[in-house]
Amino acid sequence: MKYERYDDCHSILNPNSKSLKPLTTSIYLAPFQGITGVTFRKVYSSHFQGVDKLYTPFFTAINSELKLPARKLNELGHVSENGVDVVPQILSKDADEIIRFAQFCEKLGFKELNWNMGCPYPMVANKKRGSGMLPYPEMVDEILQKVMAETNICFSVKCRLGYFSPDEIYKLTPVFNHHKISELTIHARIGKQLYTGEPDLETFGKALSLLKIPVVYNGDIFSLNDFQRVSNHFPAINTWMIGRGLLSDPFLPAIIKGLPIETDRQAAIRRFIDELYSAYRMQLNDNPAVLGILKEYWHYLAESFNNPHKVFKKLKKAKKFDEYETGVDAVFREYEWVGSEGKMQSGEPAISLF
Ligand SMILES: Cc1cc2nc3c(=O)[nH]c(=O)nc-3n(C[C@H](O)[C@H](O)[C@H](O)COP(=O)(O)O)c2cc1C
Repeated sequence: MKYERYDDCHSILNPNSKSLKPLTTSIYLAPFQGITGVTFRKVYSSHFQGVDKLYTPFFTAINSELKLPARKLNELGHVSENGVDVVPQILSKDADEIIRFAQFCEKLGFKELNWNMGCPYPMVANKKRGSGMLPYPEMVDEILQKVMAETNICFSVKCRLGYFSPDEIYKLTPVFNHHKISELTIHARIGKQLYTGEPDLETFGKALSLLKIPVVYNGDIFSLNDFQRVSNHFPAINTWMIGRGLLSDPFLPAIIKGLPIETDRQAAIRRFIDELYSAYRMQLNDNPAVLGILKEYWHYLAESFNNPHKVFKKLKKAKKFDEYETGVDAVFREYEWVGSEGKMQSGEPAISLF
């Protein structure tokens, strides 16, 4: 049974499997707590092409009765959006909790559960959760031992190279290989770095050579140039998870894949952001919290206009819906969408996010 599950997961996911179609680039939307919730996934996937999987932000505190509050249940309402599979994610160091959640997701019809071992924030990591678990391969092994025996859907992992040191990944690769994780996404930084510095491509490459499972690259792909640089570096990788770059330029997956894109991108972005706004107002019954969520997202979207600081300034003080609407009108009247291709340089966002 377990091996059937493994083969099923790998025939879907493993680009190197013999029975497979020709190599194609796959792109995943990275999970973002506070942004990539059900409303974002739905609206994003109805406006833009090129994404092959959508990850939910992490779930925690799954109690033994599996009584998720309505808001959280709603987040698991759709197993796919506009034909793109949704993958729930859990942050936990409790094997029983992970198993319960996996079984719950299976009942709901999801094909895969992702385990978060990448979260770098001290409040999480100090409790040996998220990337704080990476220095403890025995603990990871013990949890996987239990989880893999009791889980029927594909079980994937998202991690960093380590928490204190990138060398931690070398003790984890045999564990991931042994348990035949269906897919391993590695954000090529360590937890202690948070988002500073550069992704460590050298250690990522060494880890890649040791892994016998499908590997997904994650980290600092903000433009087609960045993508080409990293993909030239790792010709064996054909699956990429993109976070901030995609949030800033929602066309990025289509640009990377060479898919047709409408000529007036500024107008397309306007339609997208307006629909996102209406959808959040509907989801939250016009609760002003909508503005907080949208401002969080505008941190990223502003990066693809010709003056990110001024664009964000137009919106950041909005406390009422009409102020937000006036701000958005002004942004689209006064500034120009330049996208990831029009930016002067790739790399660090102009607006500090942390
Ligand atoms: C605000 C914020 C929230 C995030 N939430 C999650 C999360 O819920 N689960 C997760 O695995 N990663 C989370 N991440 C990490 C991203 O998924 C991604 O790994 C990271 O941004 C690096 O990819 P990028 O360079 O393409 O942005 C979050 C990152 C940020 C900045």
